[in-house]
Amino acid sequence: MMMFQWQANQPVTLRCIDKYAETEDSVSIKLAALSEAQPFDFKPGQFINLGVNINGKLEFRAYSISSVPHADYLQLTIKRVTQGRVSNFIVDTLAIGDEVKALPPTGDFNCIDHPPRPHSSGSKALLISAGCGITPVFAMAQYWLAHQPDIDIAFVHVARSPEATIYFDQLHTLAATTQQFQLHLLLKERGAAPCHQGRLNAEWLKKLVPDLLQRTAYLCGPQRFMQDVQRYLETLAFDMRDFHHESFTPRAPDCANVDSDSASSSSVTVNVAALGQQVETSAGQLLADVLEQAQLPIIIACRSGICGSCKCKVNHGKVTSTSQEPLTAQEIEQGYVLACSSSIDTDLDIDIG
Ligand code: FES
Repeated sequence: MMMFQWQANQPVTLRCIDKYAETEDSVSIKLAALSEAQPFDFKPGQFINLGVNINGKLEFRAYSISSVPHADYLQLTIKRVTQGRVSNFIVDTLAIGDEVKALPPTGDFNCIDHPPRPHSSGSKALLISAGCGITPVFAMAQYWLAHQPDIDIAFVHVARSPEATIYFDQLHTLAATTQQFQLHLLLKERGAAPCHQGRLNAEWLKKLVPDLLQRTAYLCGPQRFMQDVQRYLETLAFDMRDFHHESFTPRAPDCANVDSDSASSSSVTVNVAALGQQVETSAGQLLADVLEQAQLPIIIACRSGICGSCKCKVNHGKVTSTSQEPLTAQEIEQGYVLACSSSIDTDLDIDIG
């Protein structure tokens, strides 16, 4: 069967073919090609930028894929978040049969580009997650179990309770049936579930995974959790060359370092020749805001300099960028910037996408 064909930098249309509750505040959705079943290729751990139509406006957000490559659907698990317009729309309103837009899978946090480093005791992985951060590491674990069963997996997940644990039953089934998958659920309130109870710290990590120094670590969760875990690993003298992490937690909206003085000082022009459009604005403005207000076809998904959906090529002119995270060295060399993380310094000539 032919692989699903993505369009570089252009959204494709997929259909929601299934939707079900994972916990009281999260759902999983399955997305498939419109016409016929087609397998999807991606690297476990990667994410897609998903676009949904909310009140006539297409809004994009980045979500990790939790299914495995070559299935004829993509599974995403989405949790309700305070003021999360897109996530809450998907949880509350998106229905089976609805169409959505999606950009190609992307992301450096994946287990193909960063496989576990072979150790004298074999290849061992340590997957650590909290909340919805479980989605990419769950995809990695499933991939290894299916394709590289020699990899020993320690799976540490932190949640509030059994009911609030995404994939609770699937995790326990895997742990019961698969020797190389060791599950360590650490819950704030475990109730009657056969899980650990407590708050994650360096001592817990060492206790749950005594051979963690022999493992390659993959971490995903809320930003604060990730900072804490990174600190615990450093405290335990973990070799941080074997540490990989991901987070979609948006940074502060001032991430583009807008200088309010310069914002009011000089007017500049942003020229998008390919679209025959010229926009007048002030120096210091965020490039993404300017393009969005002019209703130009820019896709802003994470607004945090992480997903790469807002990539633009600056042919002439200067911007000040606070993130280049998803851009390759070659793209940076070619003049690509992230519109969500770049304030305008001078007149610009740009290409979108
Ligand atoms: S919107 Fe994600 S990097 Fe700009």
